[in-house]
Amino acid sequence: MNVLVTGGAGFIGSNFVLQILKEHPTYRVVCLDALTYAGNLSTLKPVMENDNFKFVKGDITDRELVNKLFEEEKLDFVVNFAAESHVDRSIEDPGIFLRTNILGTQVLMDASRKYGVKRFHQVSTDEVYGDLPLDRPDLFFTEETPIHASSPYSASKASADLLVQAYHRTFGLPITISRCSNNYGPYHFPEKLIPLIIIRALNDEPLPIYGTGENVRDWLFVGDHCTAIDLILHKGREGEVYNIGGHNEKTNLEVVKAILKELEKPESLITYVKDRSGHDLRYAIDPSKTRSELGWEPTTLFDEGIKMTINWYLDNRSWWNNITSGDYKDYYVNMYGDRKGEE
Ligand code: NAD
Ligand code: TYD
Repeated sequence: MNVLVTGGAGFIGSNFVLQILKEHPTYRVVCLDALTYAGNLSTLKPVMENDNFKFVKGDITDRELVNKLFEEEKLDFVVNFAAESHVDRSIEDPGIFLRTNILGTQVLMDASRKYGVKRFHQVSTDEVYGDLPLDRPDLFFTEETPIHASSPYSASKASADLLVQAYHRTFGLPITISRCSNNYGPYHFPEKLIPLIIIRALNDEPLPIYGTGENVRDWLFVGDHCTAIDLILHKGREGEVYNIGGHNEKTNLEVVKAILKELEKPESLITYVKDRSGHDLRYAIDPSKTRSELGWEPTTLFDEGIKMTINWYLDNRSWWNNITSGDYKDYYVNMYGDRKGEE
């Protein structure tokens, strides 16, 4: 099998690349990534020398490059992780979110049609469902919950989902979509809540909590997300949406306090700051369809996963030091040089 993983130098995509090469040693994986501020090639260092892996630096909105890649690589599966992914940035500058997340998805699907891939999998998010009220813990997002996006980020992901479903209905493109809750784990870019808090707490810096800190997220360890995508690719039904999440709901304050306790840092570091505009109150996934059809269960509960994540950040300071200092931007030039792949 030849698998294209877009956005494979980002947080979830890189975890997926590392996992799929381990789980399916005969598969060939091609990673297409533009190496935006969120892409970090050093994450893929462990597989750079693997004969079954190839890295291509490029933008999913570049139709010529994408078509050439599809022609050369004879792809069976496409897994589209590539996206602008940070809600706060989408509030500052929505345009790039529409370009990458919607138009980029279209370019990839056009190539998938043209070159006849067996499966186009769109990695989506529970944020396309909007939010749930804090006082209704009985409510969860199912695959039937109407799309109701709040931020330019979630609106761009929702738009892409609609387009993916339209390509299935109109052109018969063999697609699947997964909608996952908030991920955490190794290689998470330090602008997102959990790595941001770990790194700032380690530096004894104030920890910014938006609003009251009562907003709820349903946290999933990244490896469990990758396992679910692997199952959907191989066993999921064409044209279907699968929710991925694990009944690990926490308020932001609970998450931050858990990190402080583990690091033995004082809660006095917590600083309440102005709330995010349009801030979604609660996300909570009902994963019963994915569980009953594919036999998927999350294996890492939050208490265990957060310790593993904190330990990973403690053991891999150079990875995030490079990011926080900006040095990672030179990594591609320094380490990649004349190796395999394309500029
Ligand atoms: P990320 O921001 O860490 O990584 C995104 C990657 O995409 C980066 O490597 C970046 O260089 C690449 N990229 C961006 N624009 C590109 C372009 N135009 N062409 C090629 N590559 C480009 O994101 P993430 O957190 O790993 O999220 C991956 C996917 O999962 C996204 O589609 C996101 O919407 C979805 N998702 C994320 C979460 C989460 O909690 N992080 C939850 C559910 C779904
Ligand atoms: P984030 O990691 O940006 O993910 P998302 O917005 O996609 O859920 O934020 C997770 C939660 O943490 C969200 O409710 C916003 C909140 N948050 C803070 O309180 N402070 C911060 O500095 C950040 C980045 C997020």
